Parts: sequence; C-alpha cells; structure tokens
Amino acid sequence: MEPKGAVFSTGEATRPFAVSEEASLHPTGYGRESRRLVGDQMVGPASRVIPVSADQQGTAEGVYLDYNGSAPLDPRVAEIMLAALTEGAGNASSTHHFGRRQAAAVDEAREHVAALVGGRASNVVFTAGATEANNLALRGAAEGSPADRQRVVISAVEHASVRETARWLHERGSLELDVVPVTDGGYVDLRALEEILDEDVLLVSVMSANSETGVLNPVAEIAELARAVGALFHCDATQSAGRLPFDLEEIGADLVSLSSHKICGPTGVGALVGTRHSLRRLSPIIHGGGHERGLRSGSLNVAGIVGFGAASRIAFGERTAESARVAELRDRLTGSLMSRLSGVREIGDVSRRLPNTANIRFEGADAEAVVANMDPVAASTGSACSSGAIEPSEVLLAMGIPRDAASESVRFSVGRFTMREDIDVAVESAVAAVEFVRMMTKEGE
Ligand SMILES: Cc1ncc(COP(=O)(O)O)c(C=O)c1O
Repeated sequence: MEPKGAVFSTGEATRPFAVSEEASLHPTGYGRESRRLVGDQMVGPASRVIPVSADQQGTAEGVYLDYNGSAPLDPRVAEIMLAALTEGAGNASSTHHFGRRQAAAVDEAREHVAALVGGRASNVVFTAGATEANNLALRGAAEGSPADRQRVVISAVEHASVRETARWLHERGSLELDVVPVTDGGYVDLRALEEILDEDVLLVSVMSANSETGVLNPVAEIAELARAVGALFHCDATQSAGRLPFDLEEIGADLVSLSSHKICGPTGVGALVGTRHSLRRLSPIIHGGGHERGLRSGSLNVAGIVGFGAASRIAFGERTAESARVAELRDRLTGSLMSRLSGVREIGDVSRRLPNTANIRFEGADAEAVVANMDPVAASTGSACSSGAIEPSEVLLAMGIPRDAASESVRFSVGRFTMREDIDVAVESAVAAVEFVRMMTKEGE
C-alpha cells in the first residue's frame, strides 16, 4: 500500500540540486509565459509551491524510501503539467490551432521519452503506464503471430503485468509459455535461456532491472540470443530507464516498456517504444480512432504525457549525478544497518543492481511487521496478499530463497529527494522496528 499524504523534501532547504534550467523545459510554451528565474528558483503565477522546511525532514510526514513503488512527482514536472492543464485546450487530434498546440506538446514529449532509451520519437506509443505497455507488447505480438511461432519466454522474476499476461495467453490456448529461471543472484540464467530458445519462439520478455531486488539482467546478451532464433525481444525497462543509461539499438531490444511515475513524473502514463519493424508486427489491444500509430486508441492525456516528457528530460540530464548520489545514500543505509544489527543480509547480486535499491533480510523479524513498525519511514515488502494470506514475494522464491527468509525481506529504494538526514532517520527507525519485532517474536515463542 502506498503511504498517503506524505510531504516530500522538495523545498529549497532540502533540494539536492539547484534549479538551473532555462525558464521553460517546454519550447511549445506550456508554463513559459509567466515564469522567471530568480536566483536558483523558478517563480511566477504558474509555479506550484510545495511547503517544506528543514524541520519537516524525517518527521512523521514522511521519509519516503519506496521510489521503486512510485517516485514522488518532481515539482518542476508538476509546474509544467499545471501549465499544460490550465493553459491548454482541445484534443491533440484536432486540426484547429488549439489541437495543433496540444499535438506539438505531445510531440515534444515524445522526443524526450524516446531519448531516454535511444529510440525514435515516431516509434513511441503512449499508454496509461508500463502495465498497459507490457500488455500491448505481449498480447499485441501474440495476436496474429505466425503459425510456426507459438511460444513466449519470460523470466521467473518479471513484473505481474508481464507474468500474468503471459499466463493468460497460455491459459486461453494462444501460446505456449516457458519461464526461464534466474540464478540465486536474481538475474536470468543465460545458459538455461539458450536451452529453451528455438525457432518456434515468438517473443522473449525480460526486464532490465528487477523492482524488488534492483538486480540487472544481461539484456544485451538476452537480445542476442533472441535474435539468433528470430524472436522479438521485449524489455520492461520501467525500473532502469532514467536511472541508468539504456540504448535500445545498442542492446538490440525490439520493444521497451516505460513508466512515468518511476522517474518522478505523473502516475498513469507510460509508453511502449519500439523499432518501426517490431511495432508493425503488433496488433492493438485497445481499438477506436486509431491514435498512436493505430496501436492505442483514445484521446491523448496531454498533461500526463507532457509531464512524462519533462520527467524524462530531467532524468536524462541528471541520471549520472543522481545515480552516484543515491548509491552513496543506499550504501550508507545498508552499511549502518549491518553495523547496528546482527543477522542482516542483502538479497541479490549486489555487484549488478540499480544504484538506488537495497533488498535486506532481517533474520528473525517478519518483514510486514517491521514495515508496519517503521513509521515515519516508508519502505515495502514484496509480499502479496492472496486469499487473505500474506504470501512471500514470487521474485525472491524464484531466486531459491526459502519462504521464511523471503518473508523477512524489506525493500528500501531511495531517490531524487532523499537526503542524508532521511537515511539517518531510516536507520534509527529500522533498527528500533527490527529489535521490537524480534523481541515480540521471541516472547511469543
Ligand atoms: C518492472 C515494472 N514493470 C511494470 C510496472 C507497472 O508500471 P505502471 O504502474 O506504470 O503500470 C512496474 C511498477 O511497479 C514495474 O516495477
């Protein structure tokens, strides 16, 4: 469950970067008219003030360490979105000048989103998020697949939107499904993949980074194996794009899924970016007026797309510096927890993971109980609630981690607005929570 009403550290006192951009991120004009740069702050009627003060840092309002769940909206993005919402009018498909301005704003966003993954703007299909992009990739490829290619291969640690779509296709008899195992480090076992692949495979879908462990997959090698048998390679890059460099062409990916709210953009908007050839092989899953190259009908969510474009542009420009900064914070967190508590283990291969993520097992402390007792810190577990029972994460089980160990793991994911002080509060809160849960567990035995 996402925490509600958190106040993020986005104000001047705590912002880890100076706003040094030109007054407009958006040449098409939204938010430009009335804004100006004063010192390192953007001011003017269109600016949105998010109240924050140094003493709000690390208080009950929120130390938010769940960026992989959803990253807070960057105020720079909010500002541009607000302008798009209030200054814009009309349907982006309309030919009158209002519509043309909306379409120009969408096209500008398309450039920024494409650049994030080294794709072409004309090959960006906007969706309502990565869940829909993943559905479009799998179901769109399955529909009308050639008779001699009736098999789909996914990894054992895919997001539910890939896993459940593939299972659904399999259960309704559309395609055979193979699930390739991962190593105990959490990344795809290339030898096992090679054994599974053959010329009857339509599509291979493997994520670039796992949201729970942060572990990175060898996507270029996977793409090469897929290409060798003539299969499409779909990569869910939701967690890595904007955090690490990703180049669709260099990797050899045919289809790439993205989500705006993982990169401090708005929720409810994402994209499937592909090569022209691979997009041509897809059928739409939403039918209507033929928007988005005929692959995703429906009037465009202009403000959301504009926000996604701005978030992509900011992430592209800042990802190198931000990666180094968040890695330091993440390592400060794990180092402190390990020195303060016994029985702390990191899950997944720590030499190949996202810079912002740590999945930590606290031996002898149920993760749900730890998270529930960790206020004001928000972190998450990968557990799922199924038939009223809490089930440990499928991802961790797929890595060969025993159920009891999997149910003791907590994911901490830091990000753009996380500060050192947040980490220090998080360490104190986590130590207290783990000690409390361990004590209660012992007493109950
Ligand atoms: C790897 C991955 N894919 C897909 C999604 C779904 O993204 P969205 O919320 O945009 O539908 C998520 C969200 O957690 C994710 O982590």
